[in-house]
Amino acid sequence: MTTTTPPNTSHPARPEVPLAIWPVAQSTAQWQRAGRYLPGVARHPGKMLPELARRIVAEYSAPGDLVCDPLAGIGTTLAEAALLGRRAVGVELDERWVTLATDNLDHMLDGASRCLTGIRQGDARQLQDVLGDLAGTVDLVVTSPPYGCDAGMIDKQAWIAGGRLCPADTLNYSTDKANLGHARGPAYEQAMAEIYAACHAVLRPGGHLVVVTKNTRRKGRTLDLAGLTVSLAIGAGFSYLGHVIALHAAIRDGDLVARPSYWQTTQIRHARAKGEPAHLVAHEDVTVFSRPPTTREETADAR
Ligand SMILES: C[S@@+](CC[C@H](N)C(=O)[O-])C[C@H]1O[C@@H](n2cnc3c(N)ncnc32)[C@H](O)[C@@H]1O
Repeated sequence: MTTTTPPNTSHPARPEVPLAIWPVAQSTAQWQRAGRYLPGVARHPGKMLPELARRIVAEYSAPGDLVCDPLAGIGTTLAEAALLGRRAVGVELDERWVTLATDNLDHMLDGASRCLTGIRQGDARQLQDVLGDLAGTVDLVVTSPPYGCDAGMIDKQAWIAGGRLCPADTLNYSTDKANLGHARGPAYEQAMAEIYAACHAVLRPGGHLVVVTKNTRRKGRTLDLAGLTVSLAIGAGFSYLGHVIALHAAIRDGDLVARPSYWQTTQIRHARAKGEPAHLVAHEDVTVFSRPPTTREETADAR
């Protein structure tokens, strides 16, 4: 008997794309930032690895290009893009992270590159309005959204002393419930669909969108955030170009050496204590898209 799989009508089909592996954690995150970033950036609970931001910018843009991060956090994408000679603009909802990113850009960049780099407070869902004149001219969007799971900055000393593991004001990036760090399930999907549509609107024809996510577990079930990202980005009009595995384990003598954070170790221990078959995830997924031209004029203009 022949069986056929019913078509998945909820999400567009996913084409097969090339797969690459980038070893971006040969040195630890702390070491990658040491002596370059302000120590205060450690308060942000979900920063991108500087080496990963740098590699994405180097691969998918050219000097002088405009790079945008609509969920900018402490501005890792912006700092690394500026150091590679790109113009950079970020958007971040939470005033505290905007201030920290601004201070960090002041600290890391010299006058010339600082003038070409900025962060604005606003909602990524209204990216076109927040970017104003820059909308339609962005060459590359690099971003890492909240992962639809709990995030917080670890305060190990406070925890050992009997306090909270994470200070309340760092849980899910903000005490403001409008922050997408708090969104889960359909609300999260809807918000991310709006953000990818906004990214499509601000990119020039032929520009690229690169999204960094990690598949997480919640109540024993895996959230396939990379797959969801591909579906949402294709739904917003993007072409899916490639998938990169960004290794968070170091390669030593041909073996992988995992470097779990204290947060990850604690989360996995809690899950296993509840009987959930959790394992350490030692990579992030980097999904790469392009914004195809949609009109004959755009086709002629696209590089
Ligand atoms: C995973 S973090 C990005 C971190 C960033 N890549 C870095 O290295 O610092 C996601 C960020 O999105 C911000 N955010 C959440 N909802 C937002 C929204 N609607 N508009 C803009 N930023 C938002 C959060 O405050 C958080 O800083």
